[in-house]
Amino acid sequence: GASRPAAGWRDRPGDPSPFLAACRGERGSWTPVWFMRQAGRSLPEYRRVREGVPMLESCARPDLVVEITMQPVRRYGVDAAIFYSDIVVPLKAIGLDLDIVQGVGPVIAEPIRTAADVERLRPLEPDDVAYVTEAVRGLVGQLGATPLIGFAGAPFTLASYLVEGGPSKDHARTKALMLGEPAVWAALMERLAGISAAFLQVQVDAGARAVQLFDSWAGVLPRRMYAEHVAPWSAQVLARLEGQVPRIHFGVGTGELLADMAGAGADVMGVDFRVPLDEAARRVGAERPLQGNLDSAVVLAPWPVVEREARRVLGEARELPGHIFNLGHGVLPASDPDVLARLVELVHTETAR
Ligand code: CP3
Repeated sequence: GASRPAAGWRDRPGDPSPFLAACRGERGSWTPVWFMRQAGRSLPEYRRVREGVPMLESCARPDLVVEITMQPVRRYGVDAAIFYSDIVVPLKAIGLDLDIVQGVGPVIAEPIRTAADVERLRPLEPDDVAYVTEAVRGLVGQLGATPLIGFAGAPFTLASYLVEGGPSKDHARTKALMLGEPAVWAALMERLAGISAAFLQVQVDAGARAVQLFDSWAGVLPRRMYAEHVAPWSAQVLARLEGQVPRIHFGVGTGELLADMAGAGADVMGVDFRVPLDEAARRVGAERPLQGNLDSAVVLAPWPVVEREARRVLGEARELPGHIFNLGHGVLPASDPDVLARLVELVHTETAR
């Protein structure tokens, strides 16, 4: 539509956001920082707001979404906000019976395992998630110059929840479907790619200035399975957003997949805690900005350790065209918010130019 940003987010030097500068492959005023799962149970103010409100209900209430998304921005001084929602929100919005169970994760009442099951997945329309549009608009007003990152689950990670019926360690049913029923798998991935892209588009149309595609569990796949049965649909999602806003692509344990994931077309690659950023750059190509990758557990160690490890990450990122400092996965619930605030300050002062 006419309200979408003109092509060429790359061609706006002088943008005051260090985060957007890094996405363009520039070294801005300092190395920008944000944390995956920066909102949530590590914050007492989050626990207070969420008291008695189920997770998915909180995602459908724009007042709560705005407040919870703003909490880590206020507290940490991060360079970007991440929209408070969940990867299963669009699946709930098209009518699937699912819930997020505390301490467990998403649980699906009737798992999707056959061609007939796949038919239950209808396309996501913007009206299905009007509360997302409302919350993003409210946030853009409050955030000012700080960009909002929209996000979605990538087709594989969404498929894994739908096929397994909930969280899984081995993702065995998902792999079995992928290999044993490739046509059913392809149909499932096709529909999920449409839903994932539509969810991102809603957020961008409402004012999100970057997106992250979370393929959190892709790291369970060997390279050939990823390349054949996953990458084409992630590429489809990313292509739908091309030229609108910078696109970040991230998964856990994806060291062996980084080159293939990079091939799916994101502007920035997220790197988990296992692969040093200089090595990651060799795998994805030296021209691509990277995001990452301090091990989330380091934050629980004494400050001198946090400081040493953060400096190591910054050192490994020295040659990158652009670097967004982040954790190697999400903030752990036991993290001390004061340590995270101090970490943001450290990265900013170490890299200010
Ligand atoms: O990063 C943020 O702060 C923004 C909010 C956000 C949530 N989920 C809120 C949430 C984001 C970006 C997500 C994405 C998400 N959800 C992913 C991809 C990111 C990743 O961690 O790899 C995945 C795999 C999910 C699915 C999911 N939702 C899991 C595995 C869990 C944890 C279950 C548990 O309770 O341990 C959730 C629940 C969830 N999503 C919570 C939050 C704040 C915790 C629920 C609560 O506070 O009651």
